[in-house]
Amino acid sequence: MRIAVYPGSFDPITNGHLDIIKRASRLYDKVIVGVLNNASKNPVFDAEERREMINETTRDIENVSCDVFSGLLVDFAKQNFATVIIKGLRTVADFEYEFQMALLNKALNPEYETVFMMTDSKFSYISSSMVKEVAKYHGQLEGLVPAGIADKIMKKF
Ligand code: PNS
Repeated sequence: MRIAVYPGSFDPITNGHLDIIKRASRLYDKVIVGVLNNASKNPVFDAEERREMINETTRDIENVSCDVFSGLLVDFAKQNFATVIIKGLRTVADFEYEFQMALLNKALNPEYETVFMMTDSKFSYISSSMVKEVAKYHGQLEGLVPAGIADKIMKKF
């Protein structure tokens, strides 16, 4: 069974993330979305809220599940019997940092392959930070985040 993990902060999940999850779910038998419990990044949504939003958004995709993790990503991958780490790339600006993380993860545990997926061009300008900025000023979240969670995000601001 080919199991992939898709890690991130997901503060909150965006339509760009969801697109990667859907496409990865067609490539692997199982995709586990890993929500990093990263208090040091001062997330707006706590890890459980982020997990709930992902669950709500992906509940119709049978082979996708979501878990919160802390510590090293390679350990999370190992615990879940995954062999692949999925990362989404929006622009070349993402590449340098992602390349460094992929090499580091490879050095930490050579068993895992990082697989990069290009974000669909229609989502390439979306990030969780942009979504929070729009929500802060009560802008329209339509098209940026999955419809079912837009209200929850607005309520937070
Ligand atoms: O959505 P983000 O914040 O860009 O995701 C970053 C994430 C969670 C993928 C990265 O910070 C991570 O893997 N953190 C876990 C700790 C770890 O394994 N660090 C070493 C590799 S960077």
